[in-house]
Amino acid sequence: MGVADNGHLMIGGCDAVELAKTYGTPLYVMDEARIRSNCRQFQLAFKELPMPARAYYASKAQSNLAIARLVYTEGMYMDCVSAGEMYTALQAGVPGQRLALHGNLKTRDELMMALENDVGQIIVDGFDDLTLLIELARAAGKKASILLRLRPGIDAHTHQSIQTATLDCKFGFSLYDGAAMKAVRMALEAQDCIELMGLHCHIGSQIFETQPYALAADSMCEFIAQIGRDTGTWLKTINLGGGFGVAYTPQDDPLPIAYMVRCAGEAVVQAASKHGLDYLPQIEFEPGRCIVGDAGVTLYTVGADKDVPGVRHYVALDGGMADNPRVALYGSVYTPLIANRVRDAADGHYALVGRCCESGDVLVKDACMPAPKVGEVVALMTTGAYHASMASQYNRLANPAAVLVKDGKARLISKRPTLDDIIAYDRLPEDL
Ligand code: LLP
Repeated sequence: MGVADNGHLMIGGCDAVELAKTYGTPLYVMDEARIRSNCRQFQLAFKELPMPARAYYASKAQSNLAIARLVYTEGMYMDCVSAGEMYTALQAGVPGQRLALHGNLKTRDELMMALENDVGQIIVDGFDDLTLLIELARAAGKKASILLRLRPGIDAHTHQSIQTATLDCKFGFSLYDGAAMKAVRMALEAQDCIELMGLHCHIGSQIFETQPYALAADSMCEFIAQIGRDTGTWLKTINLGGGFGVAYTPQDDPLPIAYMVRCAGEAVVQAASKHGLDYLPQIEFEPGRCIVGDAGVTLYTVGADKDVPGVRHYVALDGGMADNPRVALYGSVYTPLIANRVRDAADGHYALVGRCCESGDVLVKDACMPAPKVGEVVALMTTGAYHASMASQYNRLANPAAVLVKDGKARLISKRPTLDDIIAYDRLPEDL
């Protein structure tokens, strides 16, 4: 991303104003080179680790055919949480063996789909999940490779809704009430159809520090040692989940991917030795946000300007909480730019609001920026993760189209629904 001599925002060599003209707004723009380089940072960091390592792209951050294919070509495995995410990855050409299936509620059909496609890793989240998987795998004559998801009681410093390893949390088996050990024994007793590979723990998302990963590594190695002593089985895989943060504003200062990976690797080495393992387990990550987050920009057109003197200056954009629910959900803060005059100095404070019919439909509550004019294109930066994937059709707004840009070329990767598409799933009962 950069700025052209004429002050226009450039993404992947494409002029953002031209993209808005060609594809309409709101528009999700994804920078291919940035996604590739984010993936490569993992692969390069892995080469320096003393143990085998893998990264599963958490496709909930953004799931579509093009992104799945792209990250797969960069050596990523893929984390899926639904039939839809698995199907997307498989249709993009990602082999089942490279997939992991997650979720605190996997349906019978989803588990069957995973078994039929030889999904490489199933992350078991609870006793019902394990019981059902054993039943299905046994009946199908398959052997499922699993990790057990743990809830070790780690408090990552992030928004409450995206913390996932605290004690009061719906995910995983607790380490403190015997549940995790009971699950281990249950898996080991089903060796005809279950292969227990290791343990999983995802501590949360948008994390800017290394210490919670070290705590997770320590807990997992301690538990591996306990399992080894109690059962004679020594688990070979530790999955530390995702969570690496990205910068939404200049105040955010995420640690480089390579540094996070190196620290996690060192933590596993230390924890393995502290707890008496005589080998280094394979280390796995599930990054979503840090793969696609900073590669995405959303373009909007300014549609209305309403100054309420002494109160607030509202500027309405042609999207809103339907294409970006993160502000309403988490109070997220974004950096807006005016795409045709990025270098202009700020001259006031504006509330960038969307077009949905509720007052909570805000994109940037207090943007300090040059006055946006009706007709201009506003770009919201760092919108590649959890935007398209969390979009809704509220107010029957058409979801934005998405383009993938590289070397001055844009390719459509998700089309904007037409009005007919919007009603395509409606059915009008004949007796109405
Ligand atoms: N692995 C598991 C088991 C997860 O639950 C998640 C995210 C990830 C990996 C990927 O985490 P990441 O690297 O993207 O931080 N909608 C929220 C984020 C929810 C994250 C859910 N789980 C947001 O927009 O901030």
